[in-house]
Amino acid sequence: TEASLFDKAKDTIEFLKSRLPSPLLAPRVAIVCGSGLGGLADTVHSSPKAEYDYSDIPHFPQLTVTGHSGKLVFGLLAGKVPAVLMVGRAHFYEGHSIDQVTFPIRVFKLMGIETIFLTNAAGGLNPEYAVGDIVVLNDHIFLAGLAGIHPLRGPNEPEFGVRFPALSDAYDLELRCSVHNAWKSKASETSRRLHEGVYAFVGGPSYETRAECRMLHLLGADVVGMSTVPEIVVARHCGIRVAALSLVTNKAVLSPVPRGDDSFLHTRDADELGAIMTEGKANHEEVIEAGRAAAFDMQMLVQAVVLNMWAA
Ligand code: 6GU
Repeated sequence: TEASLFDKAKDTIEFLKSRLPSPLLAPRVAIVCGSGLGGLADTVHSSPKAEYDYSDIPHFPQLTVTGHSGKLVFGLLAGKVPAVLMVGRAHFYEGHSIDQVTFPIRVFKLMGIETIFLTNAAGGLNPEYAVGDIVVLNDHIFLAGLAGIHPLRGPNEPEFGVRFPALSDAYDLELRCSVHNAWKSKASETSRRLHEGVYAFVGGPSYETRAECRMLHLLGADVVGMSTVPEIVVARHCGIRVAALSLVTNKAVLSPVPRGDDSFLHTRDADELGAIMTEGKANHEEVIEAGRAAAFDMQMLVQAVVLNMWAA
């Protein structure tokens, strides 16, 4: 019989506890860094610091997207607050089960973590949003979850939480306020905008069609991405407070045809049409690049919130 997730998480904890230096055994906060957003780990000074490749950690999912395996970093964020950071995360589209994708959250729970910050790169569905804007999530739409692809499917493990957890207040109001306050105090340093919005989870790995983007926006989503929501569900099940931030790395294409007008299409030459049709199309390189450019502000924001909360 398959071991419970609780038993597996205990294995992982045993591995970590036997290796971590004592000042790093009880992090106050966990931070899950999204694509291109791992720079926060560089604010962790070298001593004390401990890093483990996911490939060395029992039951941690292995990453397939890029060359690196992903690492778990323990240390003092900005030299001050004991933290654990995930640099790189497993996605459902890589072929991991939804249990594997969310397993690190269960490990955080057994480690005593009470607050998690999750960051991600996402497509903007809300026409008000620009590339580089940051969105504080205040809700989500989990189509796969509604249809039964859900991290809490199966026998409930009461060590973590109840059978039927409420998610109506999943996105912690106090943490969201802290994010807005921290942003206000940094407003002079950037022209970037901060919003609150709803995140739609999709399985990926293909980006959404125009019709799918219109559907998601019609349903009330402001951003769309391929991560974060399963982790949020598992964190809320076990009573961890969560805040999640999306970096808008590209604008999802909503208009049925570019510029909302198809009457002109057959009057243009092929090259010009090609350029028009490419406009606004999601592309992995632009996602990575916008992430790099805006990553700094996003990292500073998370760091400021953590310092305001715990480095008094
Ligand atoms: Cl447009 N869609 C999805 N699903 N994920 C994204 C994205 C879009 N942009 C960045 N990540």
